[in-house]
Amino acid sequence: MSNLPHPIQYQGSKRNLAAFILGFFPDKIDRLVEPFSGTASISIAASAKQYAQRFWLNDLNQPLIELLQLIIDDPYEIADAYANIWEEQHFDSISHYFEIRTRFNQTNDPKLFLYLLARCVKGSVRYNSEGLFNQSPDKRRKGTVPATMSKNITGVSSLLKGKCHFTAWDYRKVLAAVQKTDLVYLDPPYQGVCGNRDSRYLAGIDFDEFVLALESLNNRGIRFVISYDGKLGNKTFGQILPERLALKRIEIEVGRSSQSTLLGRSEKTIESLYLSPNLIQDKLIDLSSYRREQPRQLTLV
Ligand SMILES: C[S@@+](CC[C@H](N)C(=O)[O-])C[C@H]1O[C@@H](n2cnc3c(N)ncnc32)[C@H](O)[C@@H]1O
Repeated sequence: MSNLPHPIQYQGSKRNLAAFILGFFPDKIDRLVEPFSGTASISIAASAKQYAQRFWLNDLNQPLIELLQLIIDDPYEIADAYANIWEEQHFDSISHYFEIRTRFNQTNDPKLFLYLLARCVKGSVRYNSEGLFNQSPDKRRKGTVPATMSKNITGVSSLLKGKCHFTAWDYRKVLAAVQKTDLVYLDPPYQGVCGNRDSRYLAGIDFDEFVLALESLNNRGIRFVISYDGKLGNKTFGQILPERLALKRIEIEVGRSSQSTLLGRSEKTIESLYLSPNLIQDKLIDLSSYRREQPRQLTLV
């Protein structure tokens, strides 16, 4: 699936894990719901594999959802806007970036956001405590060239145009509205070391509220898959989801994190995938090889 289009780099993107994650989805999904859609990498992959024809993309980060909507519904408009902004940087690329960043923080314009995502350090967003985008420009690269960006944008649009519903709600409102025929893929922000706040995302979530929302999905017979509690080396981010939720955990070894590579360490990142009881019932046969006391480890990269 590595040849799938991807206009936006994003911290926590599941693009490289998509093929593995999709392996636990039912073959035919009436509607795939992503309450924490980020860059929608799982919906893009699910559409390419023709697992689903209808998608609900939600993320609390409104400019991000507006950007996704532009990419999917108006690909030429956003590709042209990107090319225009990108061309402007030639005289003084660094001050141009800071100008765009100031304008974005004043307006939340998704077109400016695309340029910042393409041009900032390692494509990783950072927010300050007031919710303002504060990542610096990459001093060595100028950001994706417009022709490549345009190809990626039109690629995503051709996979998802006319099939998506977009919202920028809190995930709990989405979960309250999902139905039995949906499959819900949840990829919440990791719980950072400092409570609910994680500068990599605009917002964090409360663990207990998250558990309550999952309990309600179970009680309503809704099928879901969660990516959760990443581990770096022997350090775990986030609390383990409680046993009463009756989830099946699968661990995926995804190779060295970019952070530890930067620091010259060789720690491995482990990602856990949790399958809901209603989904396991549907996928009994396929899951037989994962039925162990200890989660099975898989090396993907
Ligand atoms: C790990 S990222 C999702 C990455 C995504 N799967 C991808 O492949 O790009 C988590 C996302 O949750 C969003 N988020 C944080 N708090 C939220 C909330 N309360 N409700 C909805 N979305 C939220 C963040 O803005 C972020 O985009």
